[in-house]
Amino acid sequence: MNFFIKTFGCQMNEYDSERIFYLLESIGYKESADINKANIIIFNTCAVREKAKNRLYGHIGNLKKLKSKNPDLLICIGGCTAQNLKEKLLKDFPYIDIVFGTHNISELPELIRKKQSLKNNICSIKEKGSDRFIYKSKRYLNFKAYVPIIIGCNNYCSYCIVPYVRGKEISVHPDKIIKHVKKLVLDGVLEITLLGQNVNSYGRDLTGNSKKSINFSNLLKNISGIRGLHRIRFITSHPKDFSDDIIFTIKENENIAKHIHLPIQSGSDRILKRMNRRYTTEQYLKIVRLIREELPNCSITTDIIVGFPGEDEEDFRQTLNLVKEVRFDRAFTFIYSNREGTKASNFYDNKTLKEKKVRFLKLLEIQNKISLEENKKLIGKKFEVLVEGFGIKGKDIFKGRLENNSIVNFKGSKKDIGKFKYIEILDVKTFYLKGKLCK
Ligand code: 5AD
Ligand code: SF4
Repeated sequence: MNFFIKTFGCQMNEYDSERIFYLLESIGYKESADINKANIIIFNTCAVREKAKNRLYGHIGNLKKLKSKNPDLLICIGGCTAQNLKEKLLKDFPYIDIVFGTHNISELPELIRKKQSLKNNICSIKEKGSDRFIYKSKRYLNFKAYVPIIIGCNNYCSYCIVPYVRGKEISVHPDKIIKHVKKLVLDGVLEITLLGQNVNSYGRDLTGNSKKSINFSNLLKNISGIRGLHRIRFITSHPKDFSDDIIFTIKENENIAKHIHLPIQSGSDRILKRMNRRYTTEQYLKIVRLIREELPNCSITTDIIVGFPGEDEEDFRQTLNLVKEVRFDRAFTFIYSNREGTKASNFYDNKTLKEKKVRFLKLLEIQNKISLEENKKLIGKKFEVLVEGFGIKGKDIFKGRLENNSIVNFKGSKKDIGKFKYIEILDVKTFYLKGKLCK
């Protein structure tokens, strides 16, 4: 019996799919890369932007044919759109068998058993989560692992649906995290990525007045002391909670990657306020200045939303100016997407999509130029790279990741996969680098 999983969205969803993988294997199913050979199809969905939902609807629509060919096929929809739309998904697609929420993953084997002895389709959505089974997962790669440290979000940025579909912040106890990471290292993991919607608020829900030491930078310090752990990454940081301490922790610990993903969202203080981000551009720039001073080779990446309701020409100009001032290594740029139920969905929006697209392309042009210029500075330098797998072109082309999170393609061999190698950068593109193995 086979299952097929398709994952949409962020790293937290990729990790959740590893949990689903583990659970389905534990009840005797095997993964199939071919959707046509699957007895169970799982879509682990995203809800951050409307486009993600529209794409999902297209994908679910395509499953109708498979279901009519094989009525025993089980179609299961999980993740953030499942949590958001609940029974509506079953109404829109009556051939879906199971809808399960973001807090219901560990129930999946039980739901499958139930469905097999039942005619009705099932919708199982809890409103609150727990960290009980969080580390029961099956890794896709044996040398790299995601480690969620805090799930949910309390921030309620006015455009964002995440707090509604992922729930309140729940930090995993530091002892549990350390024990898990030690186990991963014994299992051959060289690089971990600590995950959270806002890793900087780690520990707040755990600390009484007496336990001030449970915070993100202390956790980072403790994890970096684990022997055999070669590289530690973390995402995502929120500027309002980003303490100087994190910068010094990175500086003092070689195995913490010098890469900080710090979403700015807008370069206008007026818009940041309407977004409920709770920092100003000046506060953001202060963090950037300290990073540049203390960690000169650290890459800084960001997220930016264009066309937030009420964003005028001057606000947008300020975003462009900030991008030029900071010179991000990379920026993930999005056109604002209206999410029902969020505060911003009630804001008056006077710009057309066409106008927003013009701004979006302008921003992209400026950022791409900066990314390419920053990449060019790497030419001729050597970096330690974790080789992750096959590259995009050619059988002997492999890809690896630099400490700064850039991807490099190089000529190598299969035995390099899962190892750290030194690569010299020979040429660069906007989104990736080309290099050669150093002897
Ligand atoms: N519209 C557009 N982009 C959004 N993001 C979150 N919500 C929205 C939305 N409604 C972006 C933010 C966030 C990233 C993960 O997705 O930039 O940092
Ligand atoms: Fe969404 Fe803001 Fe929470 Fe990030 S911090 S998940 S943008 S509400």
